[in-house]
Amino acid sequence: MINIVLFGPPGSGKGTQAQFLIEKFNLKQISTGDLFRFNMKNDTALGQLAKSYIDKGELVPDQVTIDMLIDELKKPTDAQGFIFDGFPRTAAQTEALEKIVIDVLQAPISVCLSLIVEDKILVERLLKRGETSGRTDDSNEEIISNRIKEYYSKTAEVAELYKKQGKYVEINGVGEIEEISQKLFAEVEKIK
Ligand code: C5P
Ligand code: MG
Repeated sequence: MINIVLFGPPGSGKGTQAQFLIEKFNLKQISTGDLFRFNMKNDTALGQLAKSYIDKGELVPDQVTIDMLIDELKKPTDAQGFIFDGFPRTAAQTEALEKIVIDVLQAPISVCLSLIVEDKILVERLLKRGETSGRTDDSNEEIISNRIKEYYSKTAEVAELYKKQGKYVEINGVGEIEEISQKLFAEVEKIK
């Protein structure tokens, strides 16, 4: 089983690259952001709660996100492993994920692939995506900069935890999409 944490700030290309990785290696993508958006669209209680954070560019409380992730992970699949896209985003989520994958999948996290993109480019990409994504949190610069602020204050430390475990690999997230995919593929081949 291959279990990949696809890591990086908002706008670094996690969702885009996850699509290529799932096809190439027969993996299932779990995007906690997508799951929240699905719940917001369907106006569920979880969606309403998440919206109050997401619309401000803040993180949803850990336990809410963790419970949602566990439910998704327990669904039957014939995939060869998982890509965690946008999760973990805090140290507490990282610790929880370590236990969850062992409990539910009887397999560890294989690697954390980290897409490196500078802030200026992130803001440009997110504003551009906001023109078509319909995402409220992509639509204005203030929310975007709050998301990046949350990344540095709460999420960046996730990288340190995977570094300590020797599972952390950085990839330049700027360039041709296909070129970046190839670099990611090469890293996955190493752990297969
Ligand atoms: O991953 P994505 O950028 O799609 O997430 C969108 C928003 O969902 C985040 O800005 C945050 O408000 C919320 N989120 C969260 N915790 C996660 C993933 C997403 O709070 N682990
Ligand atoms: Mg995404």
